[in-house]
Amino acid sequence: MIPFNKPYCSGRELSYIAEVCRSTTMSGNGEFTKLCHGFFEKRYGFKKALLCTSGTDALEMCAMLCNLNAGDEVIVPSYTFVSTALAFLRERAVVRFADSGRENPNVTLETIEPLINERTKVICVVHYAGVACDMDGIMALAREHNLIVVEDAAHSIDSYYKGKPLGSIGHLAAFSFHETKNISSGEGGMLAINDERFVRRSEILWEKGTNRAEFYRGAVNKYGWCDMGSSFLPSEFNAAFLWAQLEQLDDIQRKRKHIWEMYDKGLRGKTGRGIEVMPELPDYATNNAHMYYLLCPSLEERTRFMSYLKNRGIQTTFHYLPLHSSVYYKDKHDGRILSECDRYSDTLVRLPLFYELTDMEVEKIIRTIREYA
Ligand SMILES: Cc1ncc(COP(=O)(O)O)c(C=O)c1O
Repeated sequence: MIPFNKPYCSGRELSYIAEVCRSTTMSGNGEFTKLCHGFFEKRYGFKKALLCTSGTDALEMCAMLCNLNAGDEVIVPSYTFVSTALAFLRERAVVRFADSGRENPNVTLETIEPLINERTKVICVVHYAGVACDMDGIMALAREHNLIVVEDAAHSIDSYYKGKPLGSIGHLAAFSFHETKNISSGEGGMLAINDERFVRRSEILWEKGTNRAEFYRGAVNKYGWCDMGSSFLPSEFNAAFLWAQLEQLDDIQRKRKHIWEMYDKGLRGKTGRGIEVMPELPDYATNNAHMYYLLCPSLEERTRFMSYLKNRGIQTTFHYLPLHSSVYYKDKHDGRILSECDRYSDTLVRLPLFYELTDMEVEKIIRTIREYA
């Protein structure tokens, strides 16, 4: 069976973890954490980066930093992972789900704008598959209504919008380093802060509501409890693992893009039976090869197609189940039909894409898909 995903170790993970074992700091915010923070701040220009134990944690920090009151509204895509919405619900916000666009699964200005009212405080966008949302319009809308923009950049490491790194455009952004992402630490994530007004509080939330980070920097001579917070920071073991991956980021991206290009060359315009490859990238977006997906004409056709591939040793997967009609949220949703979200949910298929996938395996996948057609 060719699996859908296989986590990749780039080579130095174990030796860096051994270094942590020999060192005096195994908890968080040690040398490897600082190396990772420095890497992200320098390469992508984030004002501040803070590693977290997951992308979910990073989103929870974003939601806490937005300082919401009960009943404040947050606009979130329905076509996303549950954490995007959950983070804001935990802060007692009302989540208003925006539909995806026709062009690709991202939310658009047209699906966001009608949801804005005087209670709206935040727009949270997801750059699905690492393909940028059209951020200029969204940022202008946010400025006009004085809203905070959070980028859920879980898929978006090393991807750009008009030359700007994703995660550096909104006021806050959350990345994921879950094992299915381009770079991984098993479970892991990162908060990126691009607006000065959130910087100090972010460190406090990160360190269980204390100003311990300031204390370690020598900025204060004792630390104590000053705010809400939680234990959002990962241990040095996770940071050491992540650092080994970051050192290989360009190589990982090169390999993933090679696989992506093979799929695109082998499948675009050649799939048949109503199956289409993922849409062409908008001209403002880059490809970070997080995902290659196909769109089937119907749910029934997708079920047939996926089992055809499975019977020939190829594991594929689909996602997301629409959040607006989920068991947890359907009674709270305002009743709007989100037809594009439903369409992507019923018809999208993700193909295997991981570092160790060989050219022969990619060729087999392409051949099998074309045989199906
Ligand atoms: C769009 C999106 N946001 C947030 C998350 C949560 O990230 P994590 O699994 O690191 O908590 C995911 C997870 O895959 C995701 O796909």
